[in-house]
Amino acid sequence: MAPRLQVENRSVIRRQRLTPFTLLILLVVASACGGPTPRETTLARGVVSAPEAQAAEVGAAILRQGGNAVDAAVAVQFALCVTNGFGAGLGGGGFMLVHDPAAGDGSVATLDYREKAPAAATRDMFLDENGEVIQNMGLYTPLASGVPGTVRGMAAAWERYGSLPWSRLLEPAVRLARVGFVLDSWTADSLKKSSDKFAALPAPLLRHVEFDDYYGGETGAVLQLPDLADTLERIAREGADEFYLGHTAELLVQEMERNGGLITAADLKAYQAVWREPVETRYRGYRVVSMPPPSSGGIALAEFLNMAETFPLPLSHSAEQIHLFAEIAKRVFADRAEHMGDPDFHHNPVAQLTDKRYARERAAEVNRHERSDPASIRAGEFPPNGAEGRDTTHFSIVDDHGMAVANTTTLNTAYGSGLVVDGAGFLLNSQMDDFSAKPGVPNDYGVTGSEANEIAPGKRPLSSMTPTMVFEPAGALLLVLGSPGGPSIISTVAQVIVHVVDGHQDLKAAVDLPRFHHQWPPSPEGEDLLLVESQPEYSLPGDVLAELSRLGYTIRTRENLGDVQAVMIQDGVATGVFDRRRTGGVAYP
Ligand code: DON
Repeated sequence: MAPRLQVENRSVIRRQRLTPFTLLILLVVASACGGPTPRETTLARGVVSAPEAQAAEVGAAILRQGGNAVDAAVAVQFALCVTNGFGAGLGGGGFMLVHDPAAGDGSVATLDYREKAPAAATRDMFLDENGEVIQNMGLYTPLASGVPGTVRGMAAAWERYGSLPWSRLLEPAVRLARVGFVLDSWTADSLKKSSDKFAALPAPLLRHVEFDDYYGGETGAVLQLPDLADTLERIAREGADEFYLGHTAELLVQEMERNGGLITAADLKAYQAVWREPVETRYRGYRVVSMPPPSSGGIALAEFLNMAETFPLPLSHSAEQIHLFAEIAKRVFADRAEHMGDPDFHHNPVAQLTDKRYARERAAEVNRHERSDPASIRAGEFPPNGAEGRDTTHFSIVDDHGMAVANTTTLNTAYGSGLVVDGAGFLLNSQMDDFSAKPGVPNDYGVTGSEANEIAPGKRPLSSMTPTMVFEPAGALLLVLGSPGGPSIISTVAQVIVHVVDGHQDLKAAVDLPRFHHQWPPSPEGEDLLLVESQPEYSLPGDVLAELSRLGYTIRTRENLGDVQAVMIQDGVATGVFDRRRTGGVAYP
């Protein structure tokens, strides 16, 4: 059954493919109708790198139909909402970067479609009467969800850049949900793990529609999601308003009312995606452009690279290099905890944090041979509300005109809160856990926060998502990349950039190298925690680990760190890479 479905998908995609002759006819008709004149082709062909192969194929098909990178991104996002419920969904949110060479100025537009706290949310909503954080309340209950941003986000990107009809971009997702999609091994495995996790939750956390009723299956099974297909069809027909004002909104609000959730019709009606100013820095001459708050990703990446740039880098993956990066990360994450939050509610000192002189001062604190106690690290101090400077499941797509999209999207934890909107067939996010429920108390990813990231009605929780583009010193786009992994996204993206820029690695080699991560706060026992990967092909050599232990780090392992989907452009050729740590796909039109 599984191979048949894939063959069927491919044949449909081929049928939609444009032959040179039809393309010529279309171009003649378009110019006769005064339609957009085609831009100069700059690349041999486009490419889609996505965390799931069927969704990557959807993007390639849209590019073949003459769609641009944003058209493909919208189609891939909706396809991932079907095939990758682990990390993407209509009930989630995210961030998108778009580079359109037609603008002629090298600019990158950054779109914030992050979830927002409902109007009824309160600062202490996850604390008990003693002021202690109630475990799992911000993660796996109806209170865990922010107002979803995905559908408004895709509409905003499409309205600004899209060239194909909206409904056409949703067609493949409808089809995947209706006809079915094949469960790859990684997704089947994650479904099983999440199902066990949800089943083990105490009774008050159980939901109306059980996760297992909705989702499940073995590797190779074909999964159909008819309610989700209906929802996508409504959105395809009626546009984004359907999700926020129409029948889907009604179903979502009913789900909230049934379960004591907070999202109301007014919250949905008020939700807007926002275009923001990107965060930029130069790393050894390369221009790095990334996501501003409410993601910490861009500032943290810039601060990390600015500090790294002040050192001659030790040998890659030596204990010296890992120690140096850990010391840099301690300072970055201390700043993240203190200074970063939703810019609509909190002043982020972006210019100061990404300033080269500030990086030199912080880097000067680092002793290359001795570990600093994380408890001794303080965030940088800046005047409150100082003047603002001008610097303020991932997939990457580049089309043959060089238009590029870096998009990171999430439900937060695997399969979000586990709450399915009955009748609408999608999972709601658990993004409220990205707020700081109480100053200094770590969230599910172990990061702490302060007033900057406390809960408030209508506020967006601080993210670590880091969709990023890197441009050659001479100006041409070189890399489009990003990753999941909570705060380890920042380390992952920084390390891939360092491997390419300093290590002169090709993209695949850079993505294949082992990763490590430090995020500053000492453990409750005062340990200096360093995360490394446990999968044998990504684990560090024993002598390096022994040296790091000798320096005083407590080494903890994760099965893997990050899942990079990236594109590199060299000599007019765009090459896509997906991370072999999980399943994924690269597709060319
Ligand atoms: O926005 C954030 O930083 C997190 N909610 C991202 C979650 C994530 O990357 C999940 N992937 N493992």
